[in-house]
Amino acid sequence: MSEEFELDWLDLREPHDAAARSEALAEALIARLPARPRLMDLGAGTGSLFRWLAPRIGRAQAWTLVDQNKEMTEAAFDTIADRAETVGLKVTFPNRRTLLVHAPGGAWRVEALIADLAHAPGNLPVGNVDAVVCSALCDLVSAGWVERMAAAIRVPFYACLNVDGRDRFLPPVPGDALVARGFARDQGRDKGFGGRALGSKAVAEITRVFGAQGFEVQSAASDWVLRGGSATALLSELVFGHAEAAMAQDFRGRGQISAWREKRLQQSSLGRLQARVGHRDVLALPPEAGWDEPAPVAARMPAALPRRRR
Ligand SMILES: C[S@@+](CC[C@H](N)C(=O)[O-])C[C@H]1O[C@@H](n2cnc3c(N)ncnc32)[C@H](O)[C@@H]1O
Repeated sequence: MSEEFELDWLDLREPHDAAARSEALAEALIARLPARPRLMDLGAGTGSLFRWLAPRIGRAQAWTLVDQNKEMTEAAFDTIADRAETVGLKVTFPNRRTLLVHAPGGAWRVEALIADLAHAPGNLPVGNVDAVVCSALCDLVSAGWVERMAAAIRVPFYACLNVDGRDRFLPPVPGDALVARGFARDQGRDKGFGGRALGSKAVAEITRVFGAQGFEVQSAASDWVLRGGSATALLSELVFGHAEAAMAQDFRGRGQISAWREKRLQQSSLGRLQARVGHRDVLALPPEAGWDEPAPVAARMPAALPRRRR
């Protein structure tokens, strides 16, 4: 059974993801891309990674957004178009499957592919791209999935925002350890990728498996650091999510977990809750160079497409 994600959840996390991703790792990826790179974004959701990375690449580029959820990819097109227009970029649709953002450094072409990534990479045209990228996906996949991916591609593999298990809510309250244990167990549940999900082991596994295939692998922390204010809604959702996952794993602890949830929600509504959610970005670069020289990044490029008008 594959995992369902809500549009609202992806919308809530986008600004925090944008603040957390490692600029250094993104720069290292961009330095290895050819003049007009073609990127495949796995589990693209509503296109959050595109909105963050495309302006950093700056030049003409082509993206394939892959997701199993058609509603997500439709929202991705709407959101990309909406936010590009907000910063004054022209958007056209040359056909029903393609969106073009006319940026100063060249057009950003976006297409969507509806596919079940459980069968990846065998069901994907990975031979036609210059990088395989993903955001908040690899902690859902299995060890076998990473093995197949590393064996199939000879282009950069960039996976950002993988959970690493260093979650911490502050100030401490009773039930923290119980919830943390249940939540960690839930992260290992099969998320529809043919085996136990890697959860907090994702980056170690990617490093080991891609390294064994001759890739040079580097990683960097990309934690969410959340404190009241604009983070309140995300903090409350995190509390609900942690409690629900912990309850699913620990039936007998339900009473304590429920008390923990109420206490944490109260703290959140009073602006007294803080959290650090541990993430890591990872970049695996294939051994052979031989790329074209990257074109200069266009001047006056927005640092990222802004959030959706609501
Ligand atoms: C945590 S969300 C991340 C979305 C997006 N990358 C982001 O960072 O906002 C995971 C995404 O993977 C997609 N997904 C999960 N399992 C999948 C599968 N088996 N095949 C295709 N897409 C899948 C979900 O629909 C969702 O859009």
